[in-house]
Parts: sequence; structure tokens; C-alpha cells
Amino acid sequence: MLAGLALAAGPAGCRGTEIEDALGKVSWFGNMRDQAAVEPYEEPPRRPPEGAVPVGAGAALGLLPDDYEELTNPFPATSESLQIGKERYDIYCSVCHGAEGAGGGSIEGPYPRGLINELVSQRARELSDGYIFGMISVGRGLMPNYRRMPQEERWHIVNYVRELQEGSGNE
Ligand code: HEC
Repeated sequence: MLAGLALAAGPAGCRGTEIEDALGKVSWFGNMRDQAAVEPYEEPPRRPPEGAVPVGAGAALGLLPDDYEELTNPFPATSESLQIGKERYDIYCSVCHGAEGAGGGSIEGPYPRGLINELVSQRARELSDGYIFGMISVGRGLMPNYRRMPQEERWHIVNYVRELQEGSGNE
């Protein structure tokens, strides 16, 4: 702890070996070493401008699905979107939620029925697109997150979940 503090506090404390320190006294080498570059922690972390929306894989808006609730799906439910959504759903989601979103995925057994929420329930129908996107992005409880999945694919899955809900008479 004390040693850590000393290292952090001493301006040249952790610079390098004696030879490097000796070389540092030669002005030319010293210039190489002490550049105008921004040193680590010299400035506070730079935040994205207010209202900026992350693109690509890293939509990290928050830790809870609720943090994503207000997002709207930028992808209309075209047949292409639904096709990608179905493909990804079948790979990543059906194992737990079942091919139709009504449970019965192949994982049942270790995960007894009831622990895995149905996606075609009235409750799930009332979730916003953004919330479902958030579920996929950050997970909840026993559900893992899929934040490594490109953002567009997550939205296509949301479209497909909506289609499953519409196709199911199950309330
Ligand atoms: C390992 C099993 C598992 C996988 C895979 C999985 N889920 Fe889930 N999911 C769960 C569990 C368990 C819950 C309930 C979480 C809780 O109790 O908080 C859940 C809940 C949900 C909910 C919330 C439903 C509600 O009523 O609140 C949505 C939406 C959802 N999952 C969508 C998906 C989608 C889309 C995928 C694929 C990207 C997926 N899940 C993959 C296990 C899984």
C-alpha cells in the first residue's frame, strides 16, 4: 500500500533503471522520454458528447435492461431483418426460451420450467423493444448477456421476438 503510494506520488519514481535515469539527464534522451504526449491519468477520462448514441457492438448504456427501455428499434421488421433475427434467435435464444418463445428449449432439465420467462407471455408482449434489446445486451438474473453480438443483430432478434409474439395465440 505504502509502496504503491510512493510510486504513484514520486514524479520519477517508477521511470526505469539507473542507466535509463542517467540517459535521461542527457538532454536529447530526456526529450525522447519526456514528450508532449498526454500521460496516463494526466487528464480526466473524456466522456462522449451528451446525447451520443454508441454504434457497433458496444452499446453500453447501462447495467440494467431498464436503462435501454426508451430506445427505439432502428430496423423495420423487413423479411430480411426477420430472417437474420430468426437465425440468431435459433442459435442463441431457443436453447432456453424454446423455438416458439414459449419455453421447452433443450436446456430444460437443469433449468426447471418456470425459471425461464416465456417470451410470448402478456408480460413479455408489454416490454418495450428497447427493454428486450437491453435484456440481450446486459442480461438479467440467470440470463446471460450477449453484448458481443453486433448491435444490429440484437435489433433483428427483437423484431423476430415480436413476430413470435404476434404468431402466438398464447397470452
Ligand atoms: C441460458 C438460458 C437463456 C438464454 C440462452 C436466453 N435467455 Fe432470456 N431469459 C432467461 C432467464 C432465466 C430469464 C428470466 C430472468 C430473470 O428471472 O430475471 C430470461 C428472460 C428474458 C426476457 C425477459 C422476459 C420477461 O418477462 O421479463 C427476455 C425478453 C429474454 N429473456 C430474451 C432473450 C433473448 C432474445 C435471448 C437470445 C439472445 C435469450 N433471452 C437467451 C434465460 C435465457
